[in-house]
Amino acid sequence: MNNPDAEKSKKAAGEKAADYVRDGMILGLGTGSTVRYFIEKLASRIKAQQLDITAIPTSAASEKLARSLGITLTTVGEHPQIDLDVDGADEVDPQFNLIKGGGGAHTREKIIASASKEFIVIVDKSKMVSRLGNFPVPVEVLSFSEKYVWNEIVSLGGLPRRREGFLTDSGNIVLDCRFNVIDPEKLETDLKCIPGVVEDGVFAKRRPEKVIVADGRNVKILERVL
Ligand code: A5P
Repeated sequence: MNNPDAEKSKKAAGEKAADYVRDGMILGLGTGSTVRYFIEKLASRIKAQQLDITAIPTSAASEKLARSLGITLTTVGEHPQIDLDVDGADEVDPQFNLIKGGGGAHTREKIIASASKEFIVIVDKSKMVSRLGNFPVPVEVLSFSEKYVWNEIVSLGGLPRRREGFLTDSGNIVLDCRFNVIDPEKLETDLKCIPGVVEDGVFAKRRPEKVIVADGRNVKILERVL
């Protein structure tokens, strides 16, 4: 069962992020249970204020939700420059390095975050950590290369585990990988350089400019020092 306090926090963070949407924006819509609250609030703002918003979803689930709420959708092919991307995270460290991909959508999420002028992450307080690594790093992998990638991850010091019964929206498998020590930028590059890895869930090169953290109804906006 969902933790009601965490749910309240997710709602508060998600709804707060809707304040940053301006008329005429091209938006990235992340994926997950926190982003769901953002998408719902966004849809009600669009209706109430007649906003001209076009959005690019990062997963089939977010696409379905946004479509059902009447949000106009586009693709990154049509709009390679995005004004603002709002997404959740599984862990956020003090430098705003992230682990993402608990829902397996991190490949599209990283593309959309990277194509966005501004990237805002919305989380409940439990996601804020002093160091990344309690949450295993999701790695999207072509099934053809599974064994090879597995061995390479082990030689990087990781302990991979295949996510059972799960394929990404692009039809690939996910290896959830535990690492004792994480140097975020190095690990992101090392994983990405393994042939057969589609994308890893470390976001060190594209970190958010803002993190909205909620603890119940108490919401804090953290800004990255640029
Ligand atoms: C999806 O693949 C993830 O990156 C999510 O953004 C992340 O897992 C956060 O999801 P919740 O908001 O559901 O915790």
